[in-house]
Formats: sequence, C-alpha cells, structure tokens
Amino acid sequence: MVTAEEFQKDMIGEIAYNSAVSTLKEVCDLLSERNPKFNWTGIYVVSGDYLILSAFHGEATEHTRIRIGEGLCSLAISEKRTVNEKDVKSNNEYLACFVSTNSEIVVPVKYGDLAVGEIDIDSDTRNAFDSDDEAFLEELSSSLAPLVKLIYDHYAQQA
Ligand code: SME
Repeated sequence: MVTAEEFQKDMIGEIAYNSAVSTLKEVCDLLSERNPKFNWTGIYVVSGDYLILSAFHGEATEHTRIRIGEGLCSLAISEKRTVNEKDVKSNNEYLACFVSTNSEIVVPVKYGDLAVGEIDIDSDTRNAFDSDDEAFLEELSSSLAPLVKLIYDHYAQQA
C-alpha cells in the first residue's frame, strides 16, 4: 500500500523529471535555432553503462541509446573533456548518425567530479566549432548540471 506521502513524493519527482526534460529540449531548440552551424543538438544523460538521448533538436537518430565505450560521445564521458572533431569522416571512433555531418563537438556535463551527461552538436560544416564555441558550451554545460543530474538520478531510480 502506497502512503499519500509516498505518492506525492513520486508525483513531485515525476513532475520535476518532466520539466527538466522539457527545459533541455528548449535549450536544444534555442541552440540550433540561433546557430546556423548547429544542425543537430542533443543532450545525452548517463544511465549505468549507457548514454540515453534525453532531448534533441533536429532529425531523429537511431542512436538514442549508446553503450559507453562507443563513439565520440563516450570519449567525452570517459575522459571528462570536450571532444571537438573537425572532420568526423577521418575519425575511426566516430559513430555515424547523419550522412550530412562533417564535424561534431561533445561537451561533458559534470556534477562535481561525476560526468552525468553531455551536450552533443553535429554540424554539416567541416571544422564548425572554434574555441569560443567550446568556452560557451562548457559554461552552458555547468549551468545545466543540476538539471542533468536530476534526470541522471531519475534513470538511476528506474534501474
Ligand atoms: N556521433 C556520435 C553519436 C551520436 S550522433 O552524433 C547523434 C558519436 O560518435 O558518438
């Protein structure tokens, strides 16, 4: 039997999770709409050994769940650093999503020392991301950390 208190706690948790996801979706929309070179913008959140695509702007991708160990997305998490690949077609570790993509930047979202997720942006332009983009996205990633951590915790509870 679930108590009223437990029910409310679950309900509030669900509301907080849904708002975090929809806020991240708005962030993805804004980033792509304001930056013509950001052709696809997504936010992946760590869930155990996987990265789960929690929000995105652009075409749907088959890579909604990536095993940590595969692709540039995993590299940003395991090395806890920004991966800025100027020419994805020359990188063997790259996991292809869209034929039109030529460059990609992946910025980890860190909550303290814990990598909880990442911002992933694909561009059709080769060498699309410069050091200003890196600095801007790293700052944004710090601001998003509490929201991403909320989703990370939600996934952990579901497991
Ligand atoms: N290219 C990524 C996979 C995700 S898609 O870009 C949406 C990678 O190499 O991990």
